[in-house]
Amino acid sequence: TPRVFSGIQPSGGLTLGNYLGALKRFADAQDKGIETIYCMVDLHAITVWQDPAKLRHATRELCAGFIASGVDPQKSILFNQSQVAEHAQMAWIFNCVARMGWMKRMTQFKDKAGKNAENASLGLFGYPALMAADILVYHATHVPVGEDQKQHLELTRDIAMKFNHDYGVDFFPITEPVIEGAATRVMSLRDGSKKMSKSDPSDMSRINLTDDADTIAKKIRKAKTDPEPLPSEVEGLENRPEARNLINIFAALSDQTVDQVMAEVGGKAFSEFKPMLADLAVAQMSPISTEMSRLMQDTAEIDRILEAGADRARAIAAPILQRTYDIVGMVGAR
Ligand code: TYM
Repeated sequence: TPRVFSGIQPSGGLTLGNYLGALKRFADAQDKGIETIYCMVDLHAITVWQDPAKLRHATRELCAGFIASGVDPQKSILFNQSQVAEHAQMAWIFNCVARMGWMKRMTQFKDKAGKNAENASLGLFGYPALMAADILVYHATHVPVGEDQKQHLELTRDIAMKFNHDYGVDFFPITEPVIEGAATRVMSLRDGSKKMSKSDPSDMSRINLTDDADTIAKKIRKAKTDPEPLPSEVEGLENRPEARNLINIFAALSDQTVDQVMAEVGGKAFSEFKPMLADLAVAQMSPISTEMSRLMQDTAEIDRILEAGADRARAIAAPILQRTYDIVGMVGAR
């Protein structure tokens, strides 16, 4: 039976990239009647140092972001990673399955560790093994993510296959990455060759889920473009990364394909297209930011939601961890 798992780091604010690449699609999966499990991965966040008070705030705000984006804590399991100890326990097993060489090839590690990799935390190096644990401790079959997580999900498959092979079992499923839609890689509004990211120093490069309507409209008005009008054909978007990005965003926000959008807006000048995009973005995004601030008025309620979610998550994860321990040869595994 299909089971969906995905996670988001509570490390600062959420962007339009997180929304279109992940959150919006999480709500879609849940509404298809599939079992869906969504996690605030606080253990991943601390692979680079986080201020404790900010981490707590970001975790709760992320939970509010999930709910405001349409993830229903009744229909989906919504919880934070550190509350379900089985993630860290399974990660240890996978630390012993994964190879150093696999980890060294991870482009996200290379990017995040930078030139001084010797000074990166051991947790940052082992990050993908914890991510594999998140997924496989639920025997999840499908993982909706943005394009940037593709390599990590390939490693998750490698870990599952090596475990199954090393212990002669057919225990862990080989997970399918689900990287779909027009906005699997939302780019910076200032530079069409860079991913939209919460860590970009320029706030004008991204739309935050907490931005108000005026800010959203201003950022779109000021988004970098080239001087030509939009092409009339999809092919004309090649080598025009900023135009391509705005079209992709329009398509994802309006639940259309890029072809449908081009039929509507092809040939228009940016001076005409940008206000259309701004209206659409404000209509979709500002109710989310309003709902997030409403939910953040009552953090005790958010904590209750996370706790209830953790109980439901643990009920699935605990028996799978115990069977893993038993396969590996741990005495006393139930
Ligand atoms: P994170 O927290 O960086 O991002 C959360 C999700 O948002 C997507 N995303 C984007 N999609 C499109 N365009 C963008 N500009 C953009 N920026 C971010 C990411 O692809 C992701 O889906 N390692 C993960 C968290 C994680 C996880 C997991 C995911 C931990 N365990 C298990 C899936 C399954 C991460 O750092 O995502």
